[in-house]
Amino acid sequence: MADAYILGIESSCDETAAAVVRSGEQIVSNVVFSQIAMHQPYGGVVPELASREHLKAIIPVVREALADAGKDYQSIDALAVTQGPGLAGALLVGISYAKALAFALDKPLIAVNHLEGHIHAVLLEERQKGSFSSSEHKLNFPVLALVVSGGHTHLYLAQQQGESWSYENIGHTRDDAAGEAFDKVAKLLALGYPGGPIIDKLSTHGDPTAVKFPPSQIKHPDRRHQGGGVESGDRPRMDFSYSGIKTAVLRYIEMHGLQGAIDDRRRALSDIAQPKLEDYIANCDRQSLDLVASFQRAMVDDLVGKTLAAARAYDAATLFVTGGVAANNELRQGFERESAMEGLPVYFPSRPLSTDNAAMIAAAAYPKFLSGDFAPLDFSAEAGLALK
Ligand code: KG4
Ligand code: ZN
Repeated sequence: MADAYILGIESSCDETAAAVVRSGEQIVSNVVFSQIAMHQPYGGVVPELASREHLKAIIPVVREALADAGKDYQSIDALAVTQGPGLAGALLVGISYAKALAFALDKPLIAVNHLEGHIHAVLLEERQKGSFSSSEHKLNFPVLALVVSGGHTHLYLAQQQGESWSYENIGHTRDDAAGEAFDKVAKLLALGYPGGPIIDKLSTHGDPTAVKFPPSQIKHPDRRHQGGGVESGDRPRMDFSYSGIKTAVLRYIEMHGLQGAIDDRRRALSDIAQPKLEDYIANCDRQSLDLVASFQRAMVDDLVGKTLAAARAYDAATLFVTGGVAANNELRQGFERESAMEGLPVYFPSRPLSTDNAAMIAAAAYPKFLSGDFAPLDFSAEAGLALK
């Protein structure tokens, strides 16, 4: 099979991204235009602003990805675009543009699930390193994939048959996603947006054992899986819940009178154009640092513990941890330590490929390209698209 160059386009949330990937195994170019600075004053992504920014950025970002790859429009073999899940208006910008381009160029267009993209970010980089290519280094199935980001905390069992991949969801968050909890806690503590990266860095300066958070409790059985979290056939559901810990942080702030210090920090940091880590540290008292470190420890323990329990319950042979929160240092260390104890190989994307990008979309499209699984021109955005 000759090499196939796929142009990927991603616009599901607050990153406008385009990339060229060769045959699902080599990143030829990867351009990510982040809107974070624009959403920062609002403490989260504002959907209308996101759509408008995607509209402004999409053409220059695609041009840059092609230029970096030394390609022109005609020399790519196919286009791939995120169909969902994500913000409907944001998705539509990428989809409309990709459709128009595919039509004008008479090239096939492939619709990709964003979550499948996060899983293929791992495969892409491992293949790029030469992994999974020989019989000694083959990828063993089933693969258990934790997709943990600002919008998702989902566990999938992934299988490959021939070229095509299929996924079974065996657990998800019942309320907030893990990244959302990082973002909301950072907002409560006046640590800016997004919360994950700053909490990651500040946590090394606090005592993670200072504040005890009770383990998250899944109170109500998932209505689709009646029976207290156990599916028929004794396949357990491995669900997560993170709205409780956010409330526990809020309660801690109230009980320990931290609000005054938080307000002072908010004022001090708002006077600094682009606060750096030193500025955050200089404006954080010991109690705040301990709270942040303890919060992160509780999140990591819960994510690692539940994922490894799922790996045991489903006899997983390989573990993938991917999505924005997979960039977290303590999370990576926790997974590396605990997986090694179980003899379970664990893989993460590099940090740039953990968060949203289009290389992962182009990579996930490659098996579909091989099997001729192309999108009809009337397909549309699906904000709640499920991965199957
Ligand atoms: O995958 P992503 O870029 O976008 C979504 O699909 O949601 O993930 C963004 C999320 C945000 O909630 C952000 O706070 C979190 O990932 N995140 C982190 C870290 N870097 C990004 N969370 C914890 N530690 C990090 N280092
Ligand atoms: Zn994502």
